[in-house]
Amino acid sequence: MATASGVRRIGDRVERKDLWWVEPLIYVVVLGGFVVYATWASLANGNYYADPYLSPFYSPCLAQNCVHPTLPLLGSWWNLSPAILIVGSPLAFRFTCYYYRRSYYRGFFRSPPACLVPDAPKTYSGETRFPFIIQNLHRYTLYIAVLVLVVLWWDAIEAFNFHGHFGIGLGTVIMVANVLLLTGYTLGCHSARYLVGGYLDSFHKASLRFRLWTYSNRLNVRHNRWAWASLVVVGLTDLYIRLVAMGVIVDPRWIS
Ligand code: FES
Repeated sequence: MATASGVRRIGDRVERKDLWWVEPLIYVVVLGGFVVYATWASLANGNYYADPYLSPFYSPCLAQNCVHPTLPLLGSWWNLSPAILIVGSPLAFRFTCYYYRRSYYRGFFRSPPACLVPDAPKTYSGETRFPFIIQNLHRYTLYIAVLVLVVLWWDAIEAFNFHGHFGIGLGTVIMVANVLLLTGYTLGCHSARYLVGGYLDSFHKASLRFRLWTYSNRLNVRHNRWAWASLVVVGLTDLYIRLVAMGVIVDPRWIS
């Protein structure tokens, strides 16, 4: 029997006749594309700095061999790509994100591919066993992501500094947009909501926490959009800086 939503029910089976597979396919293409690009860019170990722009994939730069070291804590013994040291933390933050989990469980694992579409795997253990039990560490990845975010804000401010002169280039605009989107994504995280508004029986004597929780809730309502927009723009930010560093494009800029 067909219903108004395009769902057809045959005995115990439920079959959808709409284009339900488009959504998981988009997840595979966009997430898969991002992972491939981010891996390549992080291993490339070059063209990640076009003065004054530093690629977010290489920030904070913790090794002495960075073209633009942020905090060279590791000294000179590290001679691989400095991105390897830090790219794992934002990736871990995204891959344990509740929203992305839904997306790649649907897209890559087909578990479930969509509402009312049967799971591809025959058994289901949820996130109670290794490796998926690691997803429960999401709140800790948030703490690291907040620290990285502070550094990215510093990078965005530095993008206005053209050898001691204030200026604005297209790269500046892109870097500011990138950090704004990352901020919206990070502060709307479910764990961030819990961090500022959790553990309380009442907000009565915690007006600041109530206000922060309210702001976080507002961001959280569109968490999926912040997630996609920040993912695409962080990749484009690296690409833009890379193309400027390679001399493929010229950064239009105004300097006082
Ligand atoms: S739930 Fe998405 S970043 Fe935390």
